[in-house]
Amino acid sequence: MQDYSTFIKDTFDRYKCKERFEPLKCIPVYGDEGKLCAYLRPITADFKTTLPECPMLLTKWREENPTISTGTFEPTVERTENWLSQYVIGRDDRLLFLIMCLNGGFLGHIGFSSFDFAEKSCEIDAVLRGVKNLLPGLMTFSMHSLVYWGIRELHLEKILLKVFSDNRQAIRFYEKFGFCKVGEIPLVLVKASDEEKWEIAPEGCGEEAGRYYTEMRLDIDRWKEQFLIKGI
Ligand SMILES: CC(C)(COP(=O)(O)OP(=O)(O)OC[C@H]1O[C@@H](n2cnc3c(N)ncnc32)[C@H](O)[C@@H]1OP(=O)(O)O)[C@@H](O)C(=O)NCCC(=O)NCCS
Repeated sequence: MQDYSTFIKDTFDRYKCKERFEPLKCIPVYGDEGKLCAYLRPITADFKTTLPECPMLLTKWREENPTISTGTFEPTVERTENWLSQYVIGRDDRLLFLIMCLNGGFLGHIGFSSFDFAEKSCEIDAVLRGVKNLLPGLMTFSMHSLVYWGIRELHLEKILLKVFSDNRQAIRFYEKFGFCKVGEIPLVLVKASDEEKWEIAPEGCGEEAGRYYTEMRLDIDRWKEQFLIKGI
């Protein structure tokens, strides 16, 4: 039997269209009355050709939403492009989707990363609404689709996330969705020549923490019950 880490790598590679002739696969997103309202469009290995605006869009959204960043670096298109190539396409356990509305415009992004293969668990990654005030509820609907796909196709048994403890808006959004707080992770500010970055404090350095991540976990059984009742 194929082991779970190989299964995830193979599945993500297919969604990233790493091989020639691999069809593009998008996940449908449904609104309240079960009406199709968007798609999760994976950022594919050929993004420089098929999504030429993507690095520029992500850079703009990152500048406009500093709450998502762990570091103080100056976002540039070149840096985002390298990040996509190295840390999204190049990373076996990460898949990032653009949220694409029905007219083809991109409104945000969301993904999965940081697997614990033994536990069949992973984290919701890079949740960001780039375009505000359009399609209220879209981020919630997109997360429902991602979670549904993750449970059905990836056989996930545990879904977690980390959010800065001072990001109250995001915590409220996750709680409304069905995530519960499970812990606080101390962070320390690491200074490099060109940036400062919040990183998880090494064991025993918790007292020096200047900031915290709140770790949250989705109650999958409750989510399934509600999801099936609502029939989204
Ligand atoms: C966190 C974030 C993605 C939430 O986005 P959002 O736009 O609030 O989420 P939704 O699209 O689901 O919209 C929810 C809002 O629409 C409203 N809404 C209207 N119809 C709705 C529906 N049918 N279903 C759900 N919500 C609906 C909700 O009441 C809610 O309004 P409220 O904020 O006044 O409570 C967004 O704030 C963001 O991008 N933040 C910056 C990046 C960030 O910090 N990300 C987290 C990193 S860990």
